[in-house]
Amino acid sequence: MKISVFGMGYVGAVSGVCLAEMGHEVVGVDTNPLKVDLINAGQSPIVEVGVAERMKALRETGRIRATTDAAEAVTATDVSMISVGTPSGPDGMPSMAALDAVIQDIGRALRAKDGTHAVVVRSTVLPGTTETHVTPALAAASGHVPGQDLEICFNPEFLREGSAVKDFFKPPFTIAGCTSDAGFAVLEKLYDGIEAPLIRTTPRVAESLKYVSNAFHAVKIAFANEVGVLLKSLGIDSRETMRIFCEDRDLNISPAYLRPGFAFGGSCLPKELRALQSLARSRHIDVPMLAHVLDSNHRHIEQAFEMISRRGRCRVALFGLAFKPGTDDLRESPLVLLAERLIGKGFELSIFDRSVETARLMGSNKEYIEREIPHFERLLTGDVERALDGARVVVIGHAGADEIAAIRAAHHGRTIIDLQGVRELQALDDVDYEGICW
Ligand SMILES: NC(=O)c1ccc[n+]([C@@H]2O[C@H](COP(=O)([O-])OP(=O)(O)OC[C@H]3O[C@@H](n4cnc5c(N)ncnc54)[C@H](O)[C@@H]3O)[C@@H](O)[C@H]2O)c1
Repeated sequence: MKISVFGMGYVGAVSGVCLAEMGHEVVGVDTNPLKVDLINAGQSPIVEVGVAERMKALRETGRIRATTDAAEAVTATDVSMISVGTPSGPDGMPSMAALDAVIQDIGRALRAKDGTHAVVVRSTVLPGTTETHVTPALAAASGHVPGQDLEICFNPEFLREGSAVKDFFKPPFTIAGCTSDAGFAVLEKLYDGIEAPLIRTTPRVAESLKYVSNAFHAVKIAFANEVGVLLKSLGIDSRETMRIFCEDRDLNISPAYLRPGFAFGGSCLPKELRALQSLARSRHIDVPMLAHVLDSNHRHIEQAFEMISRRGRCRVALFGLAFKPGTDDLRESPLVLLAERLIGKGFELSIFDRSVETARLMGSNKEYIEREIPHFERLLTGDVERALDGARVVVIGHAGADEIAAIRAAHHGRTIIDLQGVRELQALDDVDYEGICW
């Protein structure tokens, strides 16, 4: 393919040489004439392993060149990739100045160009930008019609400086955020030969993936460092602890606990977090991230309460009470805390949890629930129909297939607050449905 790459910085220069090496014809575009001259002289505009030698070799074959003339580059190519910087503005929002300038440049050039052109945004932009900002701006500037003679996609870049070429050729996945089959076809052709799954999704999901990934990487580093400092103060080699920690691919390094849903609870997680915080305090060590995890969790419970209370005071059927399905352990269950909050605010409540029977509760579990929810046994029912009887709001903490079928059959005129993520209830079109994170 013939590709113009706007912005020959770290992302653009790496993508440029790698795409050229894959056999594409690349025209780099940059407002900085020094970068353009360097590229045309067969030199790399950035310091990055593997780029300089590729630039030299590919320049000799003519498969890559550079220009400051945006119109010439657009006219000579079928696809334009945008990889200009989007640095933080004073309010923390990404600056759109360079992106907007490129949109105008490409738009102007397209006014004089017939046929279909594709624009692939690679700069990191906030979710929604491609559809609500780039697409209308480019359509207005170019006179082309998105979906007809203009394809606009978002394709996030995940390369890491220092191993960028390796990352380009061996990414974990290629994310294609497009709104049409023609858009997906462009990205499939562009990356043909890269051994990684190409995942088709919407531009918004693709845009959000970049932020979510980087936020997660930052959280992982902060977590390891906070844990490291705390363990060091105890004379423990944190590298050994974390090395072994990472060997658990079932719960630690895995998709476990990464599904948006309701708050955590139970007899261990909150207790262990409190202990670690307390231990850190006693050693005068600051662990700001660990210290705020319980706050974040409480905020999530409050979020569920607000979703319910927005519907007005009424009778609520709560499905699920234990901290997770299949156990009767109520200790520090977020659903118990939610129930307590609702009762405190005057909501009438009926509770169904297949695994919880008042008669069988004992020990610290029994003491806990009697302390948190007085007359708890009067609220709990083992009968789904009775739980639903008179309830205007149905809250799904966790529910099995039978309960979901019963709720589905009796959903008319009710609100469903879903903390579990039951797609078949979300798909009902005649119900007031709200999910906690979706
Ligand atoms: N650097 C990374 O590791 C990395 C990784 C993934 C994604 N990203 C994202 O990719 C984007 C680019 O990052 P970068 O680090 O390559 O930026 P960079 O600052 O290194 O490069 C941007 C280039 O764009 C050029 N430019 C500015 N305005 C222009 C215009 N109107 N027309 C043509 N060129 C113009 C600049 O001269 C510069 O060479 C950012 O949104 C960034 O968040 C960066």
